[in-house]
Amino acid sequence: MIQLSLPYLHLRTRNSSYIMEILPGGHIGQLYYGPALSSREDYSSLHREFAIMPGNETAYSPQLGQYNLETCLLEFPGGGKGDYRSPALIARRGDGDRVIDPVYRSHRLSEDLAEPPSGMPGTRGGTGGAESDEAMLTLLLEDTRGDLKLELEYRVLESCDVITRRVRVVNGGEADLDIDRIASLSLDLPPGDYRWHSLPGKWIAEKQLQSGSIRFGALELSSRRLVSSAEHNPFLAISEEGTDEHRGDAYGFSLIYSGNHRTVAEQSPHRLLRIQLGIGDEDFCWRLAPGESFESPEAVMTFSAEGFGGMSRNFHRYIEDHIIPPAWRRRPRPLLFNSWEALYFDFDEEKLMKLARAGAKLGMELFVLDDGWFAGRNDDRSSLGDWVADRKKLPGGLERLANRVRALGLEFGVWVEPEMVSPDSELYRSHPEWAIQTPGREPSLGRNQLILDLSNPAVIDYLEESMNRVFAACNPAYVKWDMNRCSSDLYSPTLPPDRQGELAHRYVMGLYELLSRLVSAWPDILFEGCASGGNRFDMGILYYMPQIWTSDNTDPGSRMKIQHGSSWVYPPHCAGAHVGSDPSHQLLRNNSIETRFHVAAFGALGYELNLTKLSPFERKVITRQVELYKAYRELFQFGELYRLASPFQGNLAVWQTMADDGSAGILGWFQQSQEAGSVYETLRLRGLDPGATYRIETLPHVFN
Ligand code: DGJ
Repeated sequence: MIQLSLPYLHLRTRNSSYIMEILPGGHIGQLYYGPALSSREDYSSLHREFAIMPGNETAYSPQLGQYNLETCLLEFPGGGKGDYRSPALIARRGDGDRVIDPVYRSHRLSEDLAEPPSGMPGTRGGTGGAESDEAMLTLLLEDTRGDLKLELEYRVLESCDVITRRVRVVNGGEADLDIDRIASLSLDLPPGDYRWHSLPGKWIAEKQLQSGSIRFGALELSSRRLVSSAEHNPFLAISEEGTDEHRGDAYGFSLIYSGNHRTVAEQSPHRLLRIQLGIGDEDFCWRLAPGESFESPEAVMTFSAEGFGGMSRNFHRYIEDHIIPPAWRRRPRPLLFNSWEALYFDFDEEKLMKLARAGAKLGMELFVLDDGWFAGRNDDRSSLGDWVADRKKLPGGLERLANRVRALGLEFGVWVEPEMVSPDSELYRSHPEWAIQTPGREPSLGRNQLILDLSNPAVIDYLEESMNRVFAACNPAYVKWDMNRCSSDLYSPTLPPDRQGELAHRYVMGLYELLSRLVSAWPDILFEGCASGGNRFDMGILYYMPQIWTSDNTDPGSRMKIQHGSSWVYPPHCAGAHVGSDPSHQLLRNNSIETRFHVAAFGALGYELNLTKLSPFERKVITRQVELYKAYRELFQFGELYRLASPFQGNLAVWQTMADDGSAGILGWFQQSQEAGSVYETLRLRGLDPGATYRIETLPHVFN
């Protein structure tokens, strides 16, 4: 619901209110974000103003007395007019004027959500239930100089308690405008005792939840790697001191973007807290010719008074209803098994068929042929870019293998890594200019490979054609789309020297273009994103691919943390989770086949170990696991998730997933280590129907 009674603008979701006001200088002010308030004409009682002008602050205009931007809560702050906090927009005009001073001009209101701008992921409208659940507001702002125009878009999704934001900058001047920074979302919160929470990590240790108190100064979480990265997931939560999983105010923010990003939480000397999310600005500079416009990625914000659990469930609902491809909404994910950790590069058709037969016997549903199937690819040093089957390993090509796998009653899936090229490949030999590298410098390699220049339309066409050929050959039900290195040596020969700062964003836009072409050409394929595990796990990818490989680390002790962290934003059905080998290939730690399954079951389950080498006991247990998972798959994948204990705070990870109607639930109780002399524990379950009687069954532990 959007209620306008100017100067007030009230965006209301089921449980939250977001209220803005037009300030005396015409700037849009932030008045309130918190529990839902009833509609009224006058919200002036919420207005905060400093009683005196702090001694050395800058008065905005002689006509407006002590009105100064540094002490205002602002909705889209510019720079150069006395607000010394982080600007949402930094841009240079040809004549050297760098002041950005956007003020309100008009607005547009609509009950339908506009589709995301062409070629960009974003909120899908018309999906979350009744139409009245959704509304959209566009605020039209103009710089006081009259040249630069801004459109601030707000999408209000009532039932998810989500409001999203996107900014369009239009160059209404007569000379080029160079944008050096554009935040998708800027939000100022009033003084408070806040804490911040984020999901940092690295390879095989993604999404390691960290928290801290807000202090004076700026906390910056960013990726400069070309991918959204495991280093900092594009996510930030802010809570009131005292908020826990179930109670208290929690604000969640995320960016629908898969490339470099920047998140800032800055507390000013006046204790105002500024939150900003947007494209990472260190490798970014975008030139706008007169009349041209630039669209920022969309940012998502949610508020819950039910603690971090409530915040996460809002995100989960939003991702399911408004982000992932509609065909996959509530659609159970197949139980797959993957060749990677079973065989790595050491396979031929017969070995693969042996593995496939073992999986089929155990009741699995989809066999994934991972890396190593294309010509010359016997290790990770060659052949990326040449997407033709290796006839030595697969004499009948992908086609015959896929048909043989399907004859076993399984579906077939295949791995690709389209964005990459090996220097030792036919593609590189014929098109070295398609690889990202800076002339005159030896390029640095990551996993022995270079990144293809997706800002070049010819590269997109080549990849589209290559993938179409691969998919047509084997008609896969599933594709794992990998991306195994971070950027270096950024430069594109297709851009002039003074526009090289556009490459990183153009790369991401090229990726989205390629994905949208392929996803619409192959609507029945389940795409799973991957980037050395979870190096690109974000809502931008989920818009095209409904699930993402969470981590290369399948050790359940590590996974407790990784999946727990992931669930702060992403629902279990988006997070690929596999039962790996014993000992784990990442940590060499031993874990029972049961623990490995129990942890992985709280995700999109798969198996990734050599199923041809199982003991009779393991075969028996896995057969039971497969039956159990199939029987409760919808609860595991689509249930409402409650986190009852955090592995980041102690020995336990406890997760409870409940059916929407409260009729059934599953509880997973995991210990990092077994302690002697355990005492009684009391568990308070959540999401239960108070009128119902529940029967509790415990899964018996099976001993060898
Ligand atoms: C990295 C992925 O995360 C792995 O699962 C696997 O697909 C390898 N790449 C293959 O090279």
